[in-house]
Amino acid sequence: MILTKSTSEIPQRNQIFLLKEIADLPELSLGQEEHIYLLDKLKNEQRLVEINRFTSKLLIATIPSFEVPNHALEAWRRKGNEAALWARENKFESIEITAFPENPEIILAFAEGAILGNYQFLKYNSKADKMRTSLSEIIINGKSVSDKDLEQLSILTNAVFRARDLVNEPVISLNAEKFSSILEQMSLEVGIHSEVLGKDQIEALGMGGLLAVNKGSVDPPTFTIMEWKPEKPLNRQPIVLVGKGVVFDTGGLSLKPTAKSMDYMKCDMAGGAAVAAAIFVAASYKLPLHLVTLVPATDNRPGGNAITPGDVITISNGATVEVLNTDAEGRLILADALCYAKKYNPMLVIDLATLTGSAAMTLGIHGIAAMSNQWGDLFDLLKKAGERVNERIVELPLWEEYDEMIKSSIADMKNIGGGEAGAISAGKFLQRFTDYPWIHLDIAGPAFLHAADHYRTVGGTATGVRLLTDFLRLLADGMGTGPNS
Ligand code: BES
Ligand code: ZN
Ligand code: ZN
Repeated sequence: MILTKSTSEIPQRNQIFLLKEIADLPELSLGQEEHIYLLDKLKNEQRLVEINRFTSKLLIATIPSFEVPNHALEAWRRKGNEAALWARENKFESIEITAFPENPEIILAFAEGAILGNYQFLKYNSKADKMRTSLSEIIINGKSVSDKDLEQLSILTNAVFRARDLVNEPVISLNAEKFSSILEQMSLEVGIHSEVLGKDQIEALGMGGLLAVNKGSVDPPTFTIMEWKPEKPLNRQPIVLVGKGVVFDTGGLSLKPTAKSMDYMKCDMAGGAAVAAAIFVAASYKLPLHLVTLVPATDNRPGGNAITPGDVITISNGATVEVLNTDAEGRLILADALCYAKKYNPMLVIDLATLTGSAAMTLGIHGIAAMSNQWGDLFDLLKKAGERVNERIVELPLWEEYDEMIKSSIADMKNIGGGEAGAISAGKFLQRFTDYPWIHLDIAGPAFLHAADHYRTVGGTATGVRLLTDFLRLLADGMGTGPNS
């Protein structure tokens, strides 16, 4: 998508006017009849009104009033998506947006929704050319929107698309090695230092969780490290982002049923894709923060040598795990990554994972389940970011009592709880491998959609990319001398 500012005073074709209040209407250059027509529609609560002219169309968008500013911004994003659909139906290549009164936040939210909702994954469609959206340019008519704002929105939406592409890519063309090589390429583009550990190095490091999950696979595992270290970072200790990179989760010998379960498990590396895309944005923005991203990756399959229920494995810190269900594999590979994170002496570790059906059942597609060993300012900031970008997070407890659930009679712990509180027993398991400030985000519900939800298109949503970007931005602003410093 090309995102530019209008240079001409004379409005281009296919204008979209964003009205904050119906009372702002007189400012529009409408004919009298158009004015009356529009007023009538708006009074009847119609929020998108089309005015058809001889050579162009005009679209007027409004939203109801909201008490919470974040809710209004989300409504503008959704309107932006509707406008993109309108443009597509009309085969418009370009739309121009003007807000009355001028308001950069509204324009940017609207444009964001239009861009994100315009995403398509057509790579494997032989009729892609016919299906491709016509909309390829958004022109912003407003002096208050800076070039930097536009550039940043463009970078962010592009990164969301890359994360969605990765999630939508089937395992036949995205095994662990391919996934890592794409993360390496992304790193190269923006000056991130990256390293991909192969099977030998993973063995040398004793990453027994990652190796165990990989045992049934014919493809080797990988462990990707991406590091963004600007010259004068505001943080002395890095922030480490960890993402689950199960490129496909069959469940292993504890095989998943196909329908509505295994059939969409190409999404099980969504956490990995999100953290990689987030550091990619941070580096593109040149955020003055020292960041590291870790992505352990493998597929989880049954195979002649696959890990078997009852097996006991050893994680890289020496802890032993009785694997009673091979479908609870995410926590095994994350355990090794969380141990690896220690060597950075991190200020904070955030992991993102499509970890449990339990989180998805609890919150559906609308929420991220968060667990932490230390609720505090950083968590509050992350939560605030979640509200701002509408990738909302909900706290679940990690009370001591839940430790009982993962007790094993023969090893240090087992990899499943008792059936109840499944998201929490997974969180408790991960907690065992952390001795630094840590937040766990279970994105199993919102990571992948079976039908579009406004500007979150069908398939991979890239949940976490906008959340982490906003969090890191807020953090950098807070640690610097003021906004945008
Ligand atoms: N990848 C799944 C979790 C998942 C479910 C992701 C739905 C996205 C949507 C995970 O590896 C898994 O299978 N978890 C099991 C754990 C259980 C066996 C303890 C689950 O939640 O059912
Ligand atoms: Zn699983
Ligand atoms: Zn999984």
